Amino acid sequence: MKSTNTNSLSNNIIIETIDTSTDYNFDNSVIITDSNLAKIYPDFIKKQASIVIPFGEKSKSLESSKYIIDELIELGADRHTKIVAFGGGMILDLAAFAASVYMRGIEYTLIPTSLLAMVDASIGGKNGINYSNHKNIIGTFNQAEKIIINQKFLETLPDKEWKNGFAEIIKIALVSDYPFFEYLEKNIINSNLKNLDPKILHYILTKSVYNKCSVVNKDEKEKNLRKILNFGHTFGHAIELYFNLDHGMSVALGIIIASKVSVKMGLIKKDDSIRIHNLIKRSGLPTDIQMNENIIESINLDKKKNLNEIDFILLNEIGEAIIHRLEIDKLKSHVLQGL
Ligand SMILES: NC(=O)c1ccc[n+]([C@@H]2O[C@H](COP(=O)([O-])OP(=O)(O)OC[C@H]3O[C@@H](n4cnc5c(N)ncnc54)[C@H](O)[C@@H]3O)[C@@H](O)[C@H]2O)c1
Repeated sequence: MKSTNTNSLSNNIIIETIDTSTDYNFDNSVIITDSNLAKIYPDFIKKQASIVIPFGEKSKSLESSKYIIDELIELGADRHTKIVAFGGGMILDLAAFAASVYMRGIEYTLIPTSLLAMVDASIGGKNGINYSNHKNIIGTFNQAEKIIINQKFLETLPDKEWKNGFAEIIKIALVSDYPFFEYLEKNIINSNLKNLDPKILHYILTKSVYNKCSVVNKDEKEKNLRKILNFGHTFGHAIELYFNLDHGMSVALGIIIASKVSVKMGLIKKDDSIRIHNLIKRSGLPTDIQMNENIIESINLDKKKNLNEIDFILLNEIGEAIIHRLEIDKLKSHVLQGL
């Protein structure tokens, strides 16, 4: 099997070449997937023991974790059994969490199938589940033994999920790589992302993974630098919660707001924020949101909060983010008073 390895950064990530088949075999493994993927890829599942979880963010829960653990016991899984998580970010986070706590941790491989999971959720060793209205409040840092990224799986991905994934791709370019941002500006001509040239898509996947790895390798436990990956997420999470909007769509709106705050703080130029707005729009992601007091209030629930201040991620320039400790009240007034 031919593959590209991002070895200088993370030896465990395999980005397949664009013509690699998806016919994988794993010994002594249990596949964990969601009900959508089990239907679309029955042959992939039936080779090994498998655990199927209903699709959707609601399944990223303690109840599903318990179900997985019960099934693993039932299947006789021991310390040598490996988990193969096959799915989008929901399954990856849930299965990696279960693998991290079952018998004090067993090895696991991630096979992301959504764009968002390929460029973001599979990389960096964070796992977790939601609990009592709090997103990712329970979880661990624990790196996968192997991550296999194969863009062939994207052929079945719904249009909406392509857009959600692109929000995170634009984010990674904005916080870490100006030439990559320019590349996206040049190559994302319209919102028909599914029809992107496979070679361009391969480059985008590789660049996104490479950039995320280089941040994570410097700060695995998110003590400092890794926080820049939360660019757009403070308001993104608040919008997600308030409007029950998809994660990627909400992050796109969060990026628009954080870019405008960056202009307001005298960091990037207005022209830069217009370029960001245009790229997000061309990717078919939302750009317009009416902010109100209630949405802003809900950022207080965000776990990145520290008393009345927040570590807010701003852009110093396109391709470079900074972490800025900001009073929540000041942030509120920036956002509410004519951004
Ligand atoms: N651990 C991390 O670092 C990290 C980073 C970013 C996001 N996340 C998490 O990832 C989750 C979001 O991930 P997501 O957007 O992939 O959501 P998801 O896993 O719910 O997938 C979205 C939908 O696409 C379907 N799908 C996935 N791959 C498919 C394919 N190839 N063909 C057809 N359908 C497919 C799924 O069944 C689901 O219905 C959230 O829970 C978020 O918190 C984690």
